Amino acid sequence: MSDWSRAASTRPVEDHATTVGTATGNRGLQIEEKLIFEQDSPGRCGVDLVDPPPFRTRLGGLERQGRIGLPGLSEPQIVRHFTRLSQKNYAIDSGVYPLGSCTMKHNPRLNEKLARLPGLADIHPLQPVSTVPGALALIDTLAHWLKTLTGMPAIALSPGAGAHGELCGMMSICAALEARGERRSRVLVPESAHGTNPATAAACGYAVDSVSSNPRGRVDIGALRTKLDTDVAALMLTNPNTCGLFEDEILEIAAAVHAVGAFFYCDGANFNAIVGRVRPADLGIDCMHLNLHKTFSTPHGGGGPGSGPVALAASLAPYAPLPWQARGPDGPGLVEHKEGEAQQSIGRLKGFHGQMGMFVRALAYMLSHGADGLRQVAEDAVLNANYLRVRLDSDLSPSFPGPCMHEVLFDDRFLKGTGITTLDFAKALIDEGYHPMTMYFPLIVHGALLIEPTETESKASLDEFVETLKVLAAKARFGETAFFHGAPHYTPRRRLDETAAARKLVLRWYAEPVNQQAEE
Ligand SMILES: Cc1ncc(COP(=O)(O)O)c(C=O)c1O
Repeated sequence: MSDWSRAASTRPVEDHATTVGTATGNRGLQIEEKLIFEQDSPGRCGVDLVDPPPFRTRLGGLERQGRIGLPGLSEPQIVRHFTRLSQKNYAIDSGVYPLGSCTMKHNPRLNEKLARLPGLADIHPLQPVSTVPGALALIDTLAHWLKTLTGMPAIALSPGAGAHGELCGMMSICAALEARGERRSRVLVPESAHGTNPATAAACGYAVDSVSSNPRGRVDIGALRTKLDTDVAALMLTNPNTCGLFEDEILEIAAAVHAVGAFFYCDGANFNAIVGRVRPADLGIDCMHLNLHKTFSTPHGGGGPGSGPVALAASLAPYAPLPWQARGPDGPGLVEHKEGEAQQSIGRLKGFHGQMGMFVRALAYMLSHGADGLRQVAEDAVLNANYLRVRLDSDLSPSFPGPCMHEVLFDDRFLKGTGITTLDFAKALIDEGYHPMTMYFPLIVHGALLIEPTETESKASLDEFVETLKVLAAKARFGETAFFHGAPHYTPRRRLDETAAARKLVLRWYAEPVNQQAEE
């Protein structure tokens, strides 16, 4: 049984106790948490209610006969259980979170406070439009800021994540081509792209055609030109790209894409690097999603609640998903059906209007920074990444020469001949109290380590991070291979079997031990 299976099995405590060497299995104040079901005391309850008066049942004999299997715990037990679980999470509120491509930046508490105002938090999506003019005005103002920052005339706010925004954009492109009476079958995606790009294109029924990169880590424009023809529906390009580099031939790329009648989709996940500095519309982009949880600091969730608004050029605006914001004689309103101006809309992608709580936070972020403050965000994010690049230049191996944008990419050449991999290096970083950087992505360099410090980090915290990386790089150079292979040494769980963790998940708890083999 792998470490992971053991961790997730019904008997983690005894096994772990033997490895840790404490009587309890706990480590310092890190408590070895049992599953809630293992803490069950049948009959125990957090509330003490009087029995209901006798009543005549109307269930016709279908009453429940036995327990439903909920664990019996007291209120303090429940509070401790969930508090301890919450403390096992690492978060941007805990420390440096240099996960490249994810823009893990501080979520200002002001945004949280505003999102919790009863007038915003307590409105119901089914309330009559006439009772929520303030909320609609807020959505309208957010759209105005996003249009101003992107230079695009239309914004679709309902998509619930970056990938959902991609779907929205590609469906709009598909609808625009159909309206032109064209059936195109291919979408071009650079090989450095995030996996969601080819997945979205495929989900929309397109064949995905990969475009190679040049030695400078940008799209090879020669290779792109050979693939462009009237069968291409769109190019999906990330800018700055996932190597943390600005696509400096983007104007030529846009012209080449448009010359064959295709659309230029930009993955705007990395907008944090250019917000306030560059307007995507000026780069010839037709459509671009923005991840509010990255650039505009709304909290990241496990895939949600996110928000991935899509900026659309005039050629794609008629296909934007419902609902549309509208301005009537009596103030802001909504277009909710495919009629009138909205006849060609791709319809609804999501219930209601999108993630209102995220809209409030994002707008609070924009208004509290102002236009100049947002530009400063981009400049600081780029400055921080370049500070790391320069300070780590001779310890790690930068994949591409010259300045980077908001994230800096290293590969594993600095580990060559040591027997230590990118994974080993990242595990050792956990022991030092840091969440690892993104590993093995993008795929175009070997053993990638992608670091995105964001503007959140101060020079002092970057310096501490740099010193830690330098120490680890020196340990690797001095051949401390066994140390790396055993890392992490100080976490509640040691090195997991990564394959088993992904392939043999133990997701169910059974009251009685069952033959796990049979389960698998
Ligand atoms: C470049 C890029 N594109 C798309 C996405 C997908 O965004 P989301 O996670 O909001 O769906 C991400 C997410 O990290 C990304 O980094």
